[in-house]
Amino acid sequence: MSCLKKEECDNKETLHNAISLVAPIYGFVLYVFLSSWHDNPVSPSAWMSLFLYPLLSPLFSLKIVPHLPIPTFLRCYLCGLASIVIAWNAYATVVVGPKPDLSDLSGQGLMGKKYLVTGGSAGIGMATVELLARLEATVVVLVRNTGKMEGAERNVWEKVESWRSKRGLKGRGNGKIIVVQCDLCSLASVRKAGSIVLKEHPDIHCLVLNAGVMFPNKVETEDGLDGMMTANHLGHFVLVKELVDNLTKSEGGGRIVLLTSSTHHMVKNGLLVDDLNCLKRPYTLFGQYSQSKICNVILAKELIKRYPSLWTAAVHPGVVRTDVVRNLPSFIKALNTMFGFVMWSLQKTPVEGSYSTLHACIVRRDRARNGAYWANCTECKANKWAEEESVGGRLWEESEKLTGGGKKQ
Ligand SMILES: NC(=O)c1ccc[n+]([C@@H]2O[C@H](COP(=O)([O-])OP(=O)(O)OC[C@H]3O[C@@H](n4cnc5c(N)ncnc54)[C@H](OP(=O)(O)O)[C@@H]3O)[C@@H](O)[C@H]2O)c1
Repeated sequence: MSCLKKEECDNKETLHNAISLVAPIYGFVLYVFLSSWHDNPVSPSAWMSLFLYPLLSPLFSLKIVPHLPIPTFLRCYLCGLASIVIAWNAYATVVVGPKPDLSDLSGQGLMGKKYLVTGGSAGIGMATVELLARLEATVVVLVRNTGKMEGAERNVWEKVESWRSKRGLKGRGNGKIIVVQCDLCSLASVRKAGSIVLKEHPDIHCLVLNAGVMFPNKVETEDGLDGMMTANHLGHFVLVKELVDNLTKSEGGGRIVLLTSSTHHMVKNGLLVDDLNCLKRPYTLFGQYSQSKICNVILAKELIKRYPSLWTAAVHPGVVRTDVVRNLPSFIKALNTMFGFVMWSLQKTPVEGSYSTLHACIVRRDRARNGAYWANCTECKANKWAEEESVGGRLWEESEKLTGGGKKQ
């Protein structure tokens, strides 16, 4: 291909030189963003796409390697194209990460299996329900707002039908969604939901403790507890205590997947077991959020000590585009909107954010360490404070004390 005018040629060259910078700039932003935010088990090939290839691309394009035997325009064109492909590869491998391994499932998918998911009316929880329903599981969804769940359920079935029709399958398949009302911030509501589940769905074999909130200001629940700690840990603790005996009798010994966050690494001086309600220190959003999220990691480990037949996992979903940020201060939300496009390229979709949850729901027990911390479907190192020998026992006792024993009163 040759350019008619020199000026036209130069313009195209400049454009392709600029495009070839997409990969190194994106790679750099991605690296800074991910290193400051979340656990990121990066494979060697993903590191290559972040550093090596992006560096090569502008070197060629900017004529630092000038004597390639191909026309300048073609060289620039190829470098621009390569840069876009490399940036996309970095997004796919580093941000999105691997898909759950479905190879252990029989041709039946999850037909006949029953899962419980908390917070399935939005975000990652709703996407988890969708992935389980695609595989034809029965999903008991615990939601605060049943009205909101009606819309969410319609949405899930539409997506499941469209996913199935692309594969030549008709209708919804054998999956089912059953809704139970449960406000995790009300211990009475949690106990009521627990007793409904025990009575109507004693055959559940896996709990997905997904619901979570970020409250920038301290909120007190009707039980006098801290709202964020209750939604993220104490409410789930009560639910687990209601269901765990029955769960351990299920086929395979029972499984619990707890949604945590890499922000649990922000805990620098250990879990403040004596102050779960944040009464003895100033309340800050990330201070209390990280305390509540390290509780999820610790509880995953403590559960298998107390109930040896259980298999548990604490899962960090990645940085996911959901409405979890709705309560954040407006300046953070404004920045999020202003840099929407950049943020879009650094975050997972809710379905991608639920891959690690699904992986933990289905991975064979002999292929994954029990009680571990996961991100991007890969086992990762948890905060050292979550590994402390006695912290799980102390958290359990304090949680029982705060919630009145965790059993029906
Ligand atoms: N998004 C991320 O980047 C990210 C990163 C790390 C960890 N996580 C964790 O992933 C989990 C899911 O987050 P998400 O991003 O999907 O958030 P989301 O879009 O805000 O969804 C949270 C879900 O939890 C439910 N929920 C909140 N408070 C509840 C309560 N008191 N009782 C019952 N349900 C309640 C919500 O119900 P309503 O719709 O009724 O409010 C909603 O269905 C959370 O545990 C979060 O900490 C998320």
